[in-house]
Amino acid sequence: MKISFAEPKIPARGIIVVGVGAKNELSSEAERIDKQVDGALSRAAAAARFTGKLGEFLAVLGPAGRKNATYLLVGTGEAKEFDELQAQRFGAGVYRAVQSVDGTAAVVVADAPDGAPADVSDIAAHLGYGARLRGYSFDKYMTGARSANNKDKPVNRLTVLAPRPATARRRFATLAAIADGVEFARDLVSEPSNVKSPKWMAAQCRKLSKLGVRVEVLGEAQMRKLGMRSLLGVGQGSTRESQCVVMRWNGGKTGSKPVALIGKGITFDTGGISIKPASGMEDMIWDMGGAGAVIGAMHALAGRKAKANVVGLVGLAENMPDGNAQRPGDIVKSMSGQTIEVINTDAEGRLVLADVLWYAQQRFKPSVMIDLATLTGAIMVALGREYAGLYASDDELAERIIAAGKAVGEKLWHMPLDETYDKQINTPRADMKNVGPRWGGSITAAQFLQRFTNDVNWAHLDIAGVAWSETDRPLMKKGATGFGVRALDRFVHDNYEGK
Ligand code: BES
Ligand code: MN
Ligand code: ZN
Repeated sequence: MKISFAEPKIPARGIIVVGVGAKNELSSEAERIDKQVDGALSRAAAAARFTGKLGEFLAVLGPAGRKNATYLLVGTGEAKEFDELQAQRFGAGVYRAVQSVDGTAAVVVADAPDGAPADVSDIAAHLGYGARLRGYSFDKYMTGARSANNKDKPVNRLTVLAPRPATARRRFATLAAIADGVEFARDLVSEPSNVKSPKWMAAQCRKLSKLGVRVEVLGEAQMRKLGMRSLLGVGQGSTRESQCVVMRWNGGKTGSKPVALIGKGITFDTGGISIKPASGMEDMIWDMGGAGAVIGAMHALAGRKAKANVVGLVGLAENMPDGNAQRPGDIVKSMSGQTIEVINTDAEGRLVLADVLWYAQQRFKPSVMIDLATLTGAIMVALGREYAGLYASDDELAERIIAAGKAVGEKLWHMPLDETYDKQINTPRADMKNVGPRWGGSITAAQFLQRFTNDVNWAHLDIAGVAWSETDRPLMKKGATGFGVRALDRFVHDNYEGK
């Protein structure tokens, strides 16, 4: 979808979208139009019991004299809550409203209602951003009649009318780069696993080099030399080669320590020899959601030329059962030198991350490491499908990440780490085992990871519940969410890019 910005001049034809606040208050531009059309908008709103709730919409056909115009009223909600996030949701409502009348192009008036905390240029920019995010859909595998009958036709063009279009356009450019990153992540997560092998993922990472990211791919031979036997054990039952990709964006001061972002990239998780039940196993195409978020965040940071040094690392493997697969009871030596008894081959994400975390801190000496992983079903039991679980080596780091998430609408809940949980992964046969007891499964998984952080500042996001959505949401259709891209981008922006 092409989004452009222009001076507020309302056209006499086409699809024209205006905002309506809570309690049906027409925006000032909407009121002007309403006068021109003899009150048609306000009468339609009253007749349809329109309330101006955020995202609600109503189509009003142009009356005599305006026959070639269709007006769309879209709710903006409470004026005093009209901040950037609400403007994004309004933009998403605009997208759905235009789609509902089969529109392919529309103009939308960006108005700041009295008392709104965001200024009109921000509202205009965030409105466009919300429309972009909502407009994403993964339909590359829909063909022929199935595609032709898809009633949600894409909107191709949205023109946002705002008093200072150049300012809005400039602010939108940054947001568009973030949206590119979110969409890239959603594309990766949505891809089916017959296509999405570790090597395919690595090839997608290579695409970031045209944004100025330095991309390096380690294959199995190199990882063997490095001693990454914990990661390699996970992929050894697959015919597809495991990979580790390093992506470097150096937009900050030379020599300043990077932020390291680390992602779990299991391109399909059968569980291995500890095989998963058949029902729902198809969900495991998105077991690379952590890697997707890291790659998407690198895309966003490079796309908006972030003034920070950031390195993204993803551990990519396919967890399959075959004659060469890892067995329960195997003991592997990780790159850190610590040995791991593999009790359950389905607890594979932590085995991959163990080596990537170690490699990241050894090679890059990062100021902070943040890993993202669709790590445990247990986090979904704890938090459902709304919040991701956040673990951190210190509370202050946790607060900063939570604040970044809150600012962009990605919810994170601080979970505990404790020595008593750490003890639960001890085993008499090796330095540790890869699963704890039945209860607190997301926590013991985090404790396991912490053993590979070597006291570097570290946080872990268990995103198993939020990488995929079974329902439509304000800023997206159901499917891959791209969760983490916006929070990571915001975290880097707020903490590492100076003033
Ligand atoms: N990829 C799964 C976790 C998962 C489950 C992600 C559902 C998304 C949706 C992970 O590798 C896994 O299998 N975890 C096991 C760990 C257990 C064997 C200790 C789990 O959570 O059941
Ligand atoms: Mn698993
Ligand atoms: Zn997994």
